[in-house]
Amino acid sequence: MIFLGPPGAGKGTQARMVTEKYGFPQISTGDILRAAVKNGTEFGLKAKAAMDAGKLVSDDIVVGIVVERLANPDCGRGFILDGFPRTGGQAESLRQILERLKKKIDVVVDFAVGEDELIKRLTGRRTCKKCGMTYNIAFAPPAKEGICDKCGGELFRRDDDSEETVRARFKVYKDQSQELGKYYSVAGRYVRLDGVAGVDEIFGRIKEIVGEA
Ligand code: AP5
Ligand code: MG
Repeated sequence: MIFLGPPGAGKGTQARMVTEKYGFPQISTGDILRAAVKNGTEFGLKAKAAMDAGKLVSDDIVVGIVVERLANPDCGRGFILDGFPRTGGQAESLRQILERLKKKIDVVVDFAVGEDELIKRLTGRRTCKKCGMTYNIAFAPPAKEGICDKCGGELFRRDDDSEETVRARFKVYKDQSQELGKYYSVAGRYVRLDGVAGVDEIFGRIKEIVGEA
């Protein structure tokens, strides 16, 4: 499955729920890049400036990450691509990678959420350092401030979740990634999903989509 959609649309939240229920791994290029930045690896250092500015990391770095990740045996039964592809070049690379692996895309889910809602979601997001669970201080706060309900880990605010950077990320999405919806809508099974509803309601729809795939 591929999850497309603007920053804050709920791709990560729903991908984690799919992983929990069905066991398909969530492959979030954003999460992998943040781990690389934290560990100070060579591509982490190259990616950091673009990420801090809300811009896209170069296609060659991101495609390299995906090739390496898809070679992992846990992807054998299927996987969810969360936040990849984001450019026409990445979509073409993915097509070639899947052809080599003899795999196909079962469904592309494109989350639709407007800019004002995204700003509210992202400026209030808090993420667990240990397990990656996300909260929102306005709509879905943890029981105890700053602490993850699930694992007791410490919550942090992502560096790129300031209002200014979220607006820059949204612009990048409109300019470079939104058009992928059109590309996939003619290339196979494509579902445009209204992302403004409760988390469980959206997951209900995703379960139906998985069931039909
Ligand atoms: P990435 O980490 O992928 O960020 P993003 O696409 O901007 O998306 P987010 O992770 O911010 O949002 P999400 O849709 O996962 O929402 P979430 O579920 O967390 O990428 C970061 C950066 O890495 C990029 O800017 C770029 O520099 C680089 N990068 C990554 N991939 C790349 C690629 N392919 N090519 C080039 N560069 C790349 O939810 C958000 C908030 O809303 C949370 O607080 C959550 O609790 C809340 N929420 C979720 N669902 C709902 C709901 N239904 N109702 C109310 N609140 C909700
Ligand atoms: Mg995410």
